[in-house]
Amino acid sequence: MKALIFTRYAKSDNIAFTDLPRPILKPDEMLVEVHAVGLNPVDAMIPKGSFKPFLRFQLPATLGSDLAGVVTEVGSRVTRFKPGDAIFASLFDSGTGSLAEYAVVPEKAAALKPSNLDFVQAASIPMVGLTAWQALKERARVKPGQKVFIPAGSGGIGTFAIQLAKHLGAKVATTTSTGNVDLVRSLGADEVIDYKKQEFETVLRDYDVVLGTVKGDSIKKSVGILKSNGSIVSLVGPPDAAFGRTRGMNFFMKFVFGLLSGKIIRQARKKGAAYSFLFVHPDSGQLAEIGKLLTVGTIRPVIDKVFPFEQAKEALAYLEKGRAKGKVVVQMR
Ligand SMILES: NC(=O)c1ccc[n+]([C@@H]2O[C@H](COP(=O)([O-])OP(=O)(O)OC[C@H]3O[C@@H](n4cnc5c(N)ncnc54)[C@H](OP(=O)(O)O)[C@@H]3O)[C@@H](O)[C@H]2O)c1
Repeated sequence: MKALIFTRYAKSDNIAFTDLPRPILKPDEMLVEVHAVGLNPVDAMIPKGSFKPFLRFQLPATLGSDLAGVVTEVGSRVTRFKPGDAIFASLFDSGTGSLAEYAVVPEKAAALKPSNLDFVQAASIPMVGLTAWQALKERARVKPGQKVFIPAGSGGIGTFAIQLAKHLGAKVATTTSTGNVDLVRSLGADEVIDYKKQEFETVLRDYDVVLGTVKGDSIKKSVGILKSNGSIVSLVGPPDAAFGRTRGMNFFMKFVFGLLSGKIIRQARKKGAAYSFLFVHPDSGQLAEIGKLLTVGTIRPVIDKVFPFEQAKEALAYLEKGRAKGKVVVQMR
């Protein structure tokens, strides 16, 4: 079967199409005929080695995390799915990849595809949906009436997170560039700051929750807009010691993460607020809940561009430019 793999960790020239044998299943895994693969920035970062200390791959490894497709075979211990089921899943952190004609999907990473979505739409959801869910619902426990700041509202995370925060009853502020103002308003953002014209920290006040989606000094500036008991959940770092503990890292790495995040944690604490780093994890139960919100139309997928499988490398390069309006998806068949 055809797959897009990386052969070694390097900044370039390490990604290629190849022919792989059909994978052999473990008892808790399923073989899935992949119809579409939603891309995330992490998919381009993994082959460069950015996640080498946290994510284990046996090289050569198949690229890609999110997928939607049809189950063709199930392992002996799989109970919730059968051949013929249409599913969507995130393979992030499971050591396997999705940019292939067939993918090995652990049962615990999959949920039934929402019937109203096509494969491209469904494949665009798992990582951004799970990340937003785990940050806003699980970690920050957003409540009706709270004020939530979601920077980069036009990105993959932003387009989903705005809709989820609105569903949770929050008042949502976001940043975007001029051309994307209408898009983020259509998703429900109450306050839209055109970051080309204004700086968010001069406009926003008394926020309960900030979702950290933009690298650079945006996280530091976010502390200034928080309420005294507010919280920042960062997706872009710095990683904290709690992250090191949950990944089972050694004392040295936990110490390093503690140092990296110490300053921002102290700045937040001075205001009586909290900082934490979130690293998304697969969760089929949460994905099924997200599927229900998609089925009833509470949340809609936002797709920027669809590439054929043969152009998967171009799709990754397009995503890496950081200007996608919603999601970039590779259509496999
Ligand atoms: N920790 C985790 O578990 C986790 C999980 C998922 C994602 N992430 C991280 O979260 C970040 C966001 O992911 P994503 O999927 O949303 O990325 P993305 O889709 O590639 O983001 C692109 C969007 O970001 C906007 N943008 C770029 N710079 C901006 C700025 N300074 N202010 C406002 N908007 C800006 C762009 O809009 P304009 O063209 O208008 O600038 C574009 O629409 C990435 O760094 C990703 O690696 C982390």
